[in-house]
Amino acid sequence: MKKITIAIDGFSSTGKSTVAKQLAKALGYVYVDSGAMYRAVTLYAMQKKIIAKDQFEIEKLISELDSLTIGFKYNDNLGFAEMFLNGVNVEHDIRTLEVSQWVSQVAEISEVRRMLVLQQQKMGKEKGVVMDGRDIGTVVFPDAELKFFMTASAETRAKRRYKELLERNESVSYEDVLKNVESRDLIDSTREDSPLMKAEDAIEIDNSNLSLEAQFKKLYALAQQAIQNQ
Ligand code: DC
Repeated sequence: MKKITIAIDGFSSTGKSTVAKQLAKALGYVYVDSGAMYRAVTLYAMQKKIIAKDQFEIEKLISELDSLTIGFKYNDNLGFAEMFLNGVNVEHDIRTLEVSQWVSQVAEISEVRRMLVLQQQKMGKEKGVVMDGRDIGTVVFPDAELKFFMTASAETRAKRRYKELLERNESVSYEDVLKNVESRDLIDSTREDSPLMKAEDAIEIDNSNLSLEAQFKKLYALAQQAIQNQ
């Protein structure tokens, strides 16, 4: 059976990664969380004090991009790939609210995008991939056979994110999470380079009132249809 590329884009915390992982597992495809790559670059900038307090030395980050190795390694026990930054497992550290507060600004930098988009395109060269992000259907894989654009209200998304962070023992307030969701929406969708937008041929899925199971069933049926159409 022919393999296809599935692009899943949308605002932050729309549950893209949950359904992308489910789809990849059901189809025997590789799942790639492109946001994790932007998060890893952000973490690097924080570790190197390129980002400190309210200061962000953008030129310094650009000059150090060549010395940065980021990549995924599949963890058999967990059943998904974890993010490694210069050989160190940073899967946990890239998901903090602090990283979330800076990542949209890092993702605005064209040099960062160029580097990561190339890596993403390499990962998807053989097809059989489900990749989620903001520009997958528009820039990374404009020819993807199947594209989804996920939406949900900001409050629904902030509630989901808040619950996730609490489960990870992060001490955060709901108000801060909501503010972060709204400010990332704004930066992600208004930036000059590859802004978040729905590809013309993407199928929009509003999951504010959709259970995880119903959502998966819907997307899986569409994926099977797209595969059969090949
Ligand atoms: O999906 P996420 O919340 O982990 O993504 C983190 C940030 O990375 C998000 O605010 C925007 C950016 N991003 C991007 O610009 N392009 C992508 N393909 C994926 C993420």
